[in-house]
Amino acid sequence: MATEDPAPATSNISVRRGDPLVVVKDVQKHYGDFHALKDVSLTVNRGEVVVVIGPSGSGKSTLCRTINRLETITSGTITIDGKELPKEGKALAGLRADVGMVFQSFNLFSHLTILENVTLGPIKVKKMKKADAEAEAKMLLDRVGVGHQASKLPAQLSGGQQQRVAIARALAMKPKVMLFDEPTSALDPEMINEVLDVMVGLAQEGMTMVVVTHEMGFARKAADRVVFMADGQIIEEASPEEFFTHPKSDRAKDFLSKLITH
Ligand SMILES: Nc1ncnc2c1ncn2[C@@H]1O[C@H](COP(=O)(O)OP(=O)(O)O)[C@@H](O)[C@H]1O
Ligand SMILES: [Mg+2]
Repeated sequence: MATEDPAPATSNISVRRGDPLVVVKDVQKHYGDFHALKDVSLTVNRGEVVVVIGPSGSGKSTLCRTINRLETITSGTITIDGKELPKEGKALAGLRADVGMVFQSFNLFSHLTILENVTLGPIKVKKMKKADAEAEAKMLLDRVGVGHQASKLPAQLSGGQQQRVAIARALAMKPKVMLFDEPTSALDPEMINEVLDVMVGLAQEGMTMVVVTHEMGFARKAADRVVFMADGQIIEEASPEEFFTHPKSDRAKDFLSKLITH
């Protein structure tokens, strides 16, 4: 669990400890008879970067999707910035805008230009003026290094570029927290770093982030904490250095040994 202790000196970036921003408490999630999240509790403080790691099927995506309320929970509570996630309606749309999400598959609208993909949410949900939304979008696209591609369609961009657009699109909603669910898993190896670099930059700027990834380099560089999941449970939490060098549980040891050797 999060503590108020100063971060260990092993973290490569200055660690910020804010107030709790995402609080997942005693959450159970079932898909029919299948128990996907078993009494999961996790607090992510403002400005903190938490990497979630664990074997396939352990519930990492489910956890992300419940935080964003793409999935309902069976019991427990999830609060974002002190507010419990509403079940539906306008309040849900508002709160969902506080949570930016980037998926493994970039999920851009294929018939819209890059610029339109980024301005859609701000115009439709935030009721921003088109010109303002476009100015903001161009700034964000520049920031992730694809400003010159604004008038193209997603299919004309590489996977790495599309994923950076997806990050810009999420940022355009000015989220309080960003969730990344294996954002580089679908990318060719040479494109992974261009996406991770953008994420490291965001982390350094103080964005609160929950990142499902097996990229240990990213975890070591940017994470304040690593959370290891298996079988729908959080098995252990530690600083990246501690987790990667001294995993406590047999499940984590086993997982890491496979991760390193394949
Ligand atoms: N919509 C669904 N319906 C039924 N079972 C699901 C659904 N989504 C995920 N699951 C199951 O829940 C478990 C956790 O899945 P997931 O959260 O995607 O794991 P991870 O992201 O760690 O690979 C898996 O066993 C998966 O098959
Ligand atoms: Mg997953």
